[in-house]
Amino acid sequence: MCGIVGYTGNREAFPILIKGLHRMEYRGYDSAGVALLQGDEVTVHKCRGKVSDLEDFCKGKDLSGHLGIAHTRWATHGEPNDINAHPHFTSDHKIALIHNGIIENHLVLRKALEKAGYLFNSQTDTEVLIHLIEDIKKNECLDLAEAVRLALSQIIGTYAVIVISVDNPNTLIVARKGSPLIIGFGKDEYFAASDAAALVEYTRKVVYLNNEEMAVLTPGNDLIVKTIKNEIVPHSIQKLRMNINELEKGGFEHFMLKEIFEQPRTIRESMRGRLSVEREVVSLGGIVEYEERLLQARRFIIVACGTSYHAGLVAEHLFEDLIRIPVEVEYASEFRYRNPVIYDDDVVIAISQSGETADTLAAIELARQKGATILGICNVVGSSIARATHAGSYTHAGPEVGVASTKAFTSQVTVLILMALCLAKRKGKIAKNKYIRLIEELETIPDKVQKLLDNASAIEKIAQYIKDFNNVLYLGRNYNFPVALEGALKLKEISYIHAEGYPAAEMKHGPIALIDENMPVIVIATNNATYEKVVSNIHEVKTRKGKIISIVSEGNSEVRNLSDYVIEIPQTHEMFTPILASVPLQLLAYYVAVLRGKNVDQPRNLAKSVTVE
Ligand code: F6R
Repeated sequence: MCGIVGYTGNREAFPILIKGLHRMEYRGYDSAGVALLQGDEVTVHKCRGKVSDLEDFCKGKDLSGHLGIAHTRWATHGEPNDINAHPHFTSDHKIALIHNGIIENHLVLRKALEKAGYLFNSQTDTEVLIHLIEDIKKNECLDLAEAVRLALSQIIGTYAVIVISVDNPNTLIVARKGSPLIIGFGKDEYFAASDAAALVEYTRKVVYLNNEEMAVLTPGNDLIVKTIKNEIVPHSIQKLRMNINELEKGGFEHFMLKEIFEQPRTIRESMRGRLSVEREVVSLGGIVEYEERLLQARRFIIVACGTSYHAGLVAEHLFEDLIRIPVEVEYASEFRYRNPVIYDDDVVIAISQSGETADTLAAIELARQKGATILGICNVVGSSIARATHAGSYTHAGPEVGVASTKAFTSQVTVLILMALCLAKRKGKIAKNKYIRLIEELETIPDKVQKLLDNASAIEKIAQYIKDFNNVLYLGRNYNFPVALEGALKLKEISYIHAEGYPAAEMKHGPIALIDENMPVIVIATNNATYEKVVSNIHEVKTRKGKIISIVSEGNSEVRNLSDYVIEIPQTHEMFTPILASVPLQLLAYYVAVLRGKNVDQPRNLAKSVTVE
């Protein structure tokens, strides 16, 4: 969603700000803008469209300045257009602001400000904030930072903001609540952004602001972090570990394809230092301190959204099979608004690639209030969810830039497998020989994924067949049901073909009515306890003239003979099929989207990091 970036220092701000916006394009947005301090005015350029449209719009203009802010907007209040784009500014062009988040009480504030004579140009909730700051500053004769602080204390909702003003020509004022904000240190310069990707080129020294904290960034002055209640709080400087190459396409046509092909490496990264076949151990350093509590848990409740929710569904099978502790998996957005029964001996596991998903953060907060222990499984280091949990494990998949999640999913499943094996062993629920067999097999998974990728061209042919259908049904059972859901999500989000995932046996309770010669059905029929049942489901589809595309274990001939197209995956234990079976489905969605001419990395309406509920 919205990306924000700010710069103050000796360099020209514009190129830094534009590069920062490009680095955050993957988050999803519909308009972009920049504000630069130039003499006794803040100059604002903004327009609907891509960052490249903003660059075209700015061509030939004076873009000099050493203090500036820039924004990519994902519309919530007010349609995507030039006026609603950020930055917003005071009518005298003395103060400008960018904002990520939602101001829930904007209508009340707007009414009061209109009554006081302020004119509004846009339909956004954000414009309220700039006039409120202006009003407080003027009426109470305060400096800008104090006016920002008092204005923010009146806001109900979420924000990450950066404010600049002609009265403070070297200063960025930054604050956050709910939406992320990172401060970067350079030599006599400060950077601020919602995403480390916008900073990593210039600095690795950063401070992550916590909720309801703000700072005044003036080169030459030390960083002081305050709360919105005006109390000075300590901060810790951290080192960014991100690699710039990970933010480039590296010769691939799209980030999504690059990320699919990275999976043998990223799955290995998720296991690195945690799995040792020689020593016959699986251990997760991030949860060691809480292991006792996990082993005593009454129940695991997994909260997540989208693809991460599907990883949670895989974990439900894994944990119940291996640890024998009951598991519930919930959409974070539903969980937070129910009145769920949560005990203090429950363990809540939040799964999130970005670590910023608003609903997942809110679910964590609810569980925390009820006394549960909270674990996080996140990809983005230092993210809000990673910091809001008691303990957890990073997936170490590296930055995921394509909006459709691929390598993050297989890494989440890998970490969940490790967690299940580690706890099962500690709880004495797994026989030694089974444990050893499983960890030996797990170690072979990256090579098996590589084997699948080496055969990617076969999937392209199936994509040619799928691309003109309007609907596709995905079926799977047991460990493969979440794979069916994930395969359908991948196809619909980037190709815009309607797709549904279903438990194979449920088909006859409704979806079977849809089956005819125009309905391709993708069935995951790998070797497992329900294989024979799934074969029966395939017969049910065939009888009704549905087209079968099957995913089978290597060497299978029975399902091959029933299928119009077949994808073979290497033999593995059924617990690991979600990793192997999801890879061809990612490739299938990718190739179909490319053949349909869609924007694979930035599908319409979608955002990578969903920071609004
Ligand atoms: C789908 C996808 C989304 C995310 C969801 C949760 O490809 O990317 O469904 O999985 O928005 O995001 P995180 O994992 O960042 O909490």
